[in-house]
Amino acid sequence: MDTDQLRRYLEFYQDLGIKTLYKAAPPAPPTMELPALAPQGDSLLKIIEDMGDCRRCRLHEGRNKIVFGVGDEQAPLVFVGEGPGADEDAQGIPFVGKAGQLLTQMIEGTARKEGIPVLRNQVYICNVVKCRPPGNRTPEPDEMEICGQFLYRQLSVIRPKAICALGGTAARAMTGHKEGVTKMRGKWFKWRDIPVMVTYHPSYLLRPYNGDAKREAWEDLKKVLHFVYD
Ligand code: URA
Repeated sequence: MDTDQLRRYLEFYQDLGIKTLYKAAPPAPPTMELPALAPQGDSLLKIIEDMGDCRRCRLHEGRNKIVFGVGDEQAPLVFVGEGPGADEDAQGIPFVGKAGQLLTQMIEGTARKEGIPVLRNQVYICNVVKCRPPGNRTPEPDEMEICGQFLYRQLSVIRPKAICALGGTAARAMTGHKEGVTKMRGKWFKWRDIPVMVTYHPSYLLRPYNGDAKREAWEDLKKVLHFVYD
């Protein structure tokens, strides 16, 4: 790789907010394996092709299916979760388990109540990491960074009017802020020039005794839906 190409890589990563480049897992190859630069005329299909049978991080070891994302490539609103769970890993589709059913209900229920004609299949839904972390653990920083390149390309292709980050992992990936969701929720942040709303993850809302969080999540969702569709 010549210096000019290396400079373009570094600029590209800097632009994505990536500060550290990880080497491929051991045994370390003699040269650093860099993923492809976001190509001109990028598309979701191209990203899927570039991911291929991805083995860039340890999460590939336990996965059944890569869970890339689902929905309209031109959606004005993108929901970003943390990573696939067991149901998603089995089906290859994000948010299809219990938390996913709640998310669908939240999107469609809030939209209906607010008089906004939006269904789940009209938004785009994806995760920070595309393979299920073992035992549903939180993705590690290096896994988020390695897989983050694909999320960033997805968002750059879709260029939604707003992004809704579900839970702490997505909030960190989208805003770079490290505060807890309770502090960040209901507020607008930015990923590049795209507004990002942070709210609770639906799995958190499924836990008992958090009526306040449910009410707050519905408020956050109302804000996003009105911002995007009014
Ligand atoms: N939780 C997530 O963060 N993403 C999914 O796709 C499912 C559950």
